[in-house]
Formats: sequence, C-alpha cells, structure tokens
Amino acid sequence: MSRTILLVGGTGRTGRRVLVQLLDRGVTVRAIVRSASRLPPGVSGHPRLRVVEAELLAMRPAELIEHQRDCDAVISCLGHVLSLKGVFGPPHDLVTGATRRLCRAITEAGPTAPVRFILMTSVSVNHPAGTDALRGPLEKGLLWALRGLVPPSRDNQRAADFLFREVGAGNRAIDWVVVRPDSLIEGEVSAYAAHDQLVASLFKPDSSTMANVAHFMCDLATDSAIWDRWVGRMPVIVDVPAAVGSKKN
Ligand SMILES: NC(=O)c1ccc[n+]([C@@H]2O[C@H](COP(=O)([O-])OP(=O)(O)OC[C@H]3O[C@@H](n4cnc5c(N)ncnc54)[C@H](OP(=O)(O)O)[C@@H]3O)[C@@H](O)[C@H]2O)c1
Repeated sequence: MSRTILLVGGTGRTGRRVLVQLLDRGVTVRAIVRSASRLPPGVSGHPRLRVVEAELLAMRPAELIEHQRDCDAVISCLGHVLSLKGVFGPPHDLVTGATRRLCRAITEAGPTAPVRFILMTSVSVNHPAGTDALRGPLEKGLLWALRGLVPPSRDNQRAADFLFREVGAGNRAIDWVVVRPDSLIEGEVSAYAAHDQLVASLFKPDSSTMANVAHFMCDLATDSAIWDRWVGRMPVIVDVPAAVGSKKN
C-alpha cells in the first residue's frame, strides 16, 4: 500500500535518518523544514519528496491542514537546538506547540481513518499515567527540578502529556505513539528492543543508535502489526548488544 508521511524535524540528527529510511522504503514524504540546505545529501529533487520551507510554529492553520491532508502518518523528530540560545531561548514550547498545531490540523481535515502521530521524545519523559515503576525518588526529584529549570525538558513532557490526556485513546482523527529512546549515539541499524517500561536508570543510561530509533519510527508508520502493538503507548527503545539478541518489536 502506498503511503504518504508528513515529517517535521527532518533536518535533525534522527530526523534525517527517518527521511532517508522512508524514501528507501518507497514512502512518499512531505517534509516541513526551516532550511532545505540542512536536509541530508542525496534527497534533494527526489520524486517522492516534497519539501516545504517554513517556520512550523508560524504557519497558518489552513496551510498546515493542506500540508498534512491525505497523510497516513505524521512523524515529529523536533528538538531544541543544543546551544544556550536553543535551550533557553524561544520557542520554549517547540515540541508541544508543533504537536498541538499538527493535531488540530489533522482533526480539522477530518480524516476517514485515524492518522498515526509518532512523537520522538526521550526516556527522561515520564509516562503520564505514572507507570514508570523503575524511577526512584532521587531520579524523580532530578527530573522535577530539570522541568522547572530547563525549558526543553518541560516541553517534551508537556507534548507527551498532551497526546495522552487531550488526544487520548479512541480519538476519531488521531492515534499516537510516543517513542522514548535512551542516549542517542551514532551507528547503523542493528539489533534493538522496544520495551513497554523503562529498563535503565537515568544514572546508568542505555543507548539507542539514531538509525535504530529512525527504523522503529518508520516501522510504526508503515507496518500495521507493529503499529497495533504500540498504539497509545510510550515504548522505550534501546540497543541490544550484538552477542545478546536480535531485533525485536
Ligand atoms: N540527545 C539525546 O541523546 C537524546 C536522547 C533521547 C531523545 N532525544 C530527543 O529526541 C529528539 C530529536 O533529537 P535529535 O538529536 O535527533 O534532534 P536535533 O538533531 O537536535 O534536531 C532537531 C530538529 O528540530 C528542528 N528545530 C529546532 N528548533 C526549531 C524551531 N524553532 N522551529 C522548527 N524546527 C526546529 C531542527 O531544525 P533545524 O535543522 O532547522 O535546526 C531539527 O530538524 C529531541 O526531542 C531530543 O530531546 C535526544
């Protein structure tokens, strides 16, 4: 089945990998980016890629509705740029604001079947249902302080809270998955696992190659069995050392 996917954050470290992997899978991609010059090499002019250069948070609702119309899925790999200005400067609500706007556009377009919304975030984001049993008091306290002091940390949590609480389950326009990788590292697609729960402490983190995180998000967008397994959940993605296991979804 041919698919069209809207990608935001496609110029980022993980988003670039998502873009290349989607095109390699034969998917048609619409990418909203601030600057096309930051797209990965080799994709410019691709017949299945449409690039929209725009400030996502400044787009008019009608424009956003048009760009996401007829898309089967939306993948967000947005993240605050890791610089003093990127972390502490505006927009403080990059991820939440984009998620809200995109979800509103999807809803107003009135899709015939729910659109898959895939949000890339982090293991530092709590499951809003409070089901992250592994977090001890020290870790909870640290995360609480970080959310007070560091805007991107608060922003990522709010975006996940929005999908869980406001979009919720059984929404007629949107189904969602919040993807929580551990520390991002370089590397190729390799063995990885998706877990329902946290599997490591923030004080002793696991790692996830950006290629693996991209691979999992592409699977979610294109593979209905994998989507059905994770819809409405917040999987934690970690690499599996080569000697220990094989890819598992
Ligand atoms: N670093 C880690 O170890 C780690 C671990 C787990 C999860 N995460 C989370 O994973 C997500 C993606 O991380 P990443 O390292 O792959 O991302 P990244 O390389 O920092 O890329 C961020 C993307 O967001 C875009 N962006 C930033 N500010 C924007 C704005 N004001 N308006 C529109 N677009 C904007 C960037 O566009 P430009 O190219 O135009 O700047 C880029 O496409 C983030 O939410 C991050 O918190 C990170």
